[in-house]
Amino acid sequence: MNLAAIVATAIWAMLPAYVPNNAAVLGGGGRPIDGGRTWRGARLLGDGKTWRGTAVGIGAGVLLGVALGMIRDPVSVVLGIGLPVFSIGALLALPTGAMLGDIGASFLKRRTGRQRGRPFPGLDQLDFVVGALFLAAVVDPAWFGSVFTLPVIVAVIVLTPILHLVTNGIAYALGLKDEPW
Ligand code: CTP
Ligand code: MG
Repeated sequence: MNLAAIVATAIWAMLPAYVPNNAAVLGGGGRPIDGGRTWRGARLLGDGKTWRGTAVGIGAGVLLGVALGMIRDPVSVVLGIGLPVFSIGALLALPTGAMLGDIGASFLKRRTGRQRGRPFPGLDQLDFVVGALFLAAVVDPAWFGSVFTLPVIVAVIVLTPILHLVTNGIAYALGLKDEPW
């Protein structure tokens, strides 16, 4: 695979994992997942992780994956690159894993004394990548192995923090998000 194909594959395959974070911001609100519970003097997850935001995030990721599946053939022809086809397992695992990774990161942030919304550089940019890749690998190892070759994984790890900072910066500038991370 040449560099363009590696980058296109990485972005295409990760789109259902990227969108849930941003959709959760728009859909957030209502009951927090931890129900207000604390552990060792700090919230378990905090008010930034809600049932509604999580459901909206996963739903948006799945819908985007379905939409990508419908335009995959023509886009592949135009780009001259054989883009990956999402399996059902991948379609569900990528957004769900992304949200679980983000929730796990909030758990770690609360344990390390960071209030809701405080940054944790590195973790904020990669938590959902680790969650999405891990769950996809567990749910559909054959699909995962065929799409996420080592060069594609490297491209994902390099490109994701950049894309994440750019989209969160835009959401912040539009007033949709309280902080630019
Ligand atoms: N959100 C949500 N449910 C999720 C993830 C996000 O409701 N599972 C919404 C919340 O309104 C949250 C916003 O999206 O405030 C931004 O998400 P994020 O940056 O992940 O949360 P923070 O508020 O920064 O909290 P934390 O410090 O725990 O990351
Ligand atoms: Mg945040």
